[in-house]
Amino acid sequence: MRYESIAIHGGRMDDREKKAVNYPIYLSSTFAQPSLDQFQEFVYSRGNNPTRSNVENLAAELEDAKYGLVLASGMAATSLVFGLLKQGDKVLINNNVYGGTWRFVSNVFADHGIEYEIVNDFNNYNFDTADSNVKMVFIETPSNPLLEITDIRKVSAEAKRKEILTVVDNTFLTSYFQKPLNLGADIVVYSATKYYAGHSDILAGLVMVNNDELYAKLKFLQNTYGGILSPIDSFLLARGIKTLSLRLDRHQKNAWLVAQYFQQHPAVKNVYYPGLKSHKNHEIQRSQADGDGGVLSIRLNDGWDSKKFIEGLKIFDLAVSLGGVESLICHPASMTHESYALELQNKIGIDNKLLRLAVGLEHQEDILEDISNALKEAKI
Ligand SMILES: Cc1ncc(COP(=O)(O)O)c(C=O)c1O
Repeated sequence: MRYESIAIHGGRMDDREKKAVNYPIYLSSTFAQPSLDQFQEFVYSRGNNPTRSNVENLAAELEDAKYGLVLASGMAATSLVFGLLKQGDKVLINNNVYGGTWRFVSNVFADHGIEYEIVNDFNNYNFDTADSNVKMVFIETPSNPLLEITDIRKVSAEAKRKEILTVVDNTFLTSYFQKPLNLGADIVVYSATKYYAGHSDILAGLVMVNNDELYAKLKFLQNTYGGILSPIDSFLLARGIKTLSLRLDRHQKNAWLVAQYFQQHPAVKNVYYPGLKSHKNHEIQRSQADGDGGVLSIRLNDGWDSKKFIEGLKIFDLAVSLGGVESLICHPASMTHESYALELQNKIGIDNKLLRLAVGLEHQEDILEDISNALKEAKI
């Protein structure tokens, strides 16, 4: 089956005696066992729950992955993967990642004796210069919020040569547009709160992996930390996934139009969208992804006021997050990346003027009109 069909029919386990077209919600914390010397697959829902296993299988099938793990949030997924690290290990991380990931790296690692180093340009990083205690590379591509692109094939191959694990946060594209495991990465993490669930109604996280040993470690940690997704939210996640490809096609179409509109508008100084030919890593993006997603960032020119622009928008709500059906705008420096010290924010380019737009599924003309009107109101 192809992606669109798997999204609808995949993951289903064998519990189909009632012929329900949707996999049922198993609201049971525990499961009766046949006998003391014969335990069945489902024992206790922190370890395994049928509704969760169903969506784990579904997400893995879509990813071409052997295994999928579903967690209570994207940060629970990232934390699970960081749980593989031991005292003395070091992680290389790209310079703009989701603020929560940065909060973890810059606050929690030190308490566990784990080091990190920011890499400004992984595409030109020489792994021969990496310290011998580097055990993990963590990249977001496209990155949040600057939409920078890292060459997954190149980084994974170089890291593998040094026995370093490559982890990719693929939240902005999902497996519909990009499959990092097929490009050589070891682990993929997602905030499934975003496009997978797709309706801004639940939080969820995914971890995808092919390697049996890595899976066994991560599965052990999932059961040990206990940050699993509830059966009801697992059902909602599976429901969202059924329309993922349709939604992403429309998100992308609308984002493209918005990016092109911004590009020709005198109010806009910079547009960051990997689908634009002018994007510095456009060619890398084309070589590894089938699409560019629905998120873009901009900076307005002097003479236009960002606050007035935001306040002038009627369709775009001012809110963190992305990947739901509705259009959102946010101010990364104060809303999603406030955990970065001001000096670091400025060094990376997450400055006060940067705005991130998550383009939704509204009619394209309504979206463009909204932006056009708000830019008029933003003129100083
Ligand atoms: C790229 C990326 N990764 C991870 C996360 C964390 O996900 P969650 O909010 O589901 O914990 C987010 C949330 O915005 C994100 O944008």
